[in-house]
Amino acid sequence: MSHWPTTSPKRIIPPEPRRAPNRTHRALVLVPGGGHGCEQKRRDHGAHRRSGSQVGKGGSRTGIRHRLRDLNGNDVTELSRFHDRCSEETHYRRFLTAKPRLLVREAEQFCNVDQHRDGAIVALDPDSPDKIRGVGRWFGVDATSAEVAFAVEDDYQGCGIGRSLVSTVIALARSVGFTILIGYVLADNRAMRYVLRTSGYPLVEHYDGPGVLAFSLDVSGETTLAA
Ligand SMILES: CC(C)(COP(=O)(O)OP(=O)(O)OC[C@H]1O[C@@H](n2cnc3c(N)ncnc32)[C@H](O)[C@@H]1OP(=O)(O)O)[C@@H](O)C(=O)NCCC(=O)NCCS
Repeated sequence: MSHWPTTSPKRIIPPEPRRAPNRTHRALVLVPGGGHGCEQKRRDHGAHRRSGSQVGKGGSRTGIRHRLRDLNGNDVTELSRFHDRCSEETHYRRFLTAKPRLLVREAEQFCNVDQHRDGAIVALDPDSPDKIRGVGRWFGVDATSAEVAFAVEDDYQGCGIGRSLVSTVIALARSVGFTILIGYVLADNRAMRYVLRTSGYPLVEHYDGPGVLAFSLDVSGETTLAA
């Protein structure tokens, strides 16, 4: 019998300023990555990762740049490869269940977005522009709410890609009329919860099951982030 509550009081978290922001993000353009702080941040956050994760392979990731573009129907194969390059931990954090493989039919469904009711963007590595390094998406739930989800390839985590995916998905979802963005996150997912808390919009969290938080971001108003 689980001791976790299946529901809990909602916790309303007003937008929180980020710790020492050191870069700007612009949707759909080349974005400077974590710069000089990136490798240190990866070391700082590395202690929270399982020993089996792939973090640290591939040498220094300082100065990462990435380009964001819409996901499209030609990305089916590369989306599966991206999934294969991500660790079991990243799969679990993204899908809240083990997800060792993305079936072709699933990859096709994920790529079948109209960028309106359902949309997705990918972060590409300008040094290997055929490689997807991160994905952010929204799925329309009703006329005003959409569910969002994000994943960044392990070797590229902690370098700013997640934050630019989140801010761009928020901007795109707002632009097509969504005012509430919902989602699910493991309670120990500090990175995702921090990005949401500091996204510039009010966040509500409550337990939705053992170790899982449901969140809701009210993006109806203006952002509290400086332009
Ligand atoms: C969550 C995830 C998308 C974040 O992407 P990312 O590229 O690693 O995140 P960023 O490098 O943009 O970091 C964003 C912020 O979180 C902070 N952060 C990163 N890891 C952190 C950690 N373990 N604890 C606390 N803060 C952390 C960073 O310092 C950064 O803050 P800053 O922009 O103010 O400097 C990515 O780690 C991931 O794919 N995780 C696995 C899948 C997942 O958890 N998906 C979420 C389910 S919806």
